Amino acid sequence: MITFHDLLPAQQSMLADIFAGLSQPQKRIPPKYFYDARGCELFDAICGLPEYYPTRTELAIMRLNARAMADRLGPACALIEIGCGNSEKTRLLLEALRPQIFVPVDIAREQLESSCNALARLLPGMPILALRADFAQPIAVPLTGLGQARRRALYFPGSTIGNFTRPEAAAFLARWAPLLGAGGAALIGVDLRKDDALLNAAYNDAQGVTAEFNLNVLRHINHALGADFDLAAFSHRAYYNGEHGRIEMHLVSLRPQRVTIRGHEFEFCAGETIHTENSCKYGIAEFQDLGRAAGFEPLECWTDERSLFSVHYFSLPQ
Ligand code: AVJ
Repeated sequence: MITFHDLLPAQQSMLADIFAGLSQPQKRIPPKYFYDARGCELFDAICGLPEYYPTRTELAIMRLNARAMADRLGPACALIEIGCGNSEKTRLLLEALRPQIFVPVDIAREQLESSCNALARLLPGMPILALRADFAQPIAVPLTGLGQARRRALYFPGSTIGNFTRPEAAAFLARWAPLLGAGGAALIGVDLRKDDALLNAAYNDAQGVTAEFNLNVLRHINHALGADFDLAAFSHRAYYNGEHGRIEMHLVSLRPQRVTIRGHEFEFCAGETIHTENSCKYGIAEFQDLGRAAGFEPLECWTDERSLFSVHYFSLPQ
């Protein structure tokens, strides 16, 4: 019942991404490179941290409302999930929805395979079409593989959409609208704007797991590309940028240094940073407007009692 398509080779080159990112005045590394095997483990550890409220809050929202969400989506859906499909949130939705076909999309092959195997055991009889792809880029969804679904629905949990800047998020939704087609749906988990102190604590945990997660991207590049980043010469920085409504994560060069990647040298001044992640925070109405601009109609939004996190249901006109 599991079909696997690897769309990644056609999409990307890690070397080209890293070279391009490190050649800009503000050096950057795309956040997708956090997620090697160790990075996936570290992210799982982040999700259980006392300071990191999003995962447990979204899960609580799903526990209370998965039934209502499934009712909104209706029967015989093709459910396309962006990001790792191995979470308890996904299981709650799948058990309530029983989609006609489940289409998880992820860049991490091992995560994708192991979560598909676990879900196939949990929901035997549910066809799974796994797509290994970089969802930050256009995806050639094999639409014929979706069969006779009544409606296509996108599930994008975890506030992963926050990794996009606001214009990138708008472009992402606009790209999905024609793929979902008339009558399509989207269910999107979005972290909300809140007190700066709470946000800053969530990305600067006392145990230093987020720091390790951030630094691990350099280890990943060392392994994958034979680079010589000295992990001890960089430190973690994360802060809420109020002007842009986002947490920014950076790696700060602790001294002047030179890093070599496949014969190319990249220079760092002391204090210079590599921007590794944006994590945008939205108001509920603000995110609904973003969806509207991409052609989606906001029909319902579920949140927790402290308004920390939200899950939005949108539909596309028939
Ligand atoms: C997986 C992108 C939602 O932005 O909160 C957690 C990643 N980075 N701690 C987030 C992350 C640092 C996370 N997302």
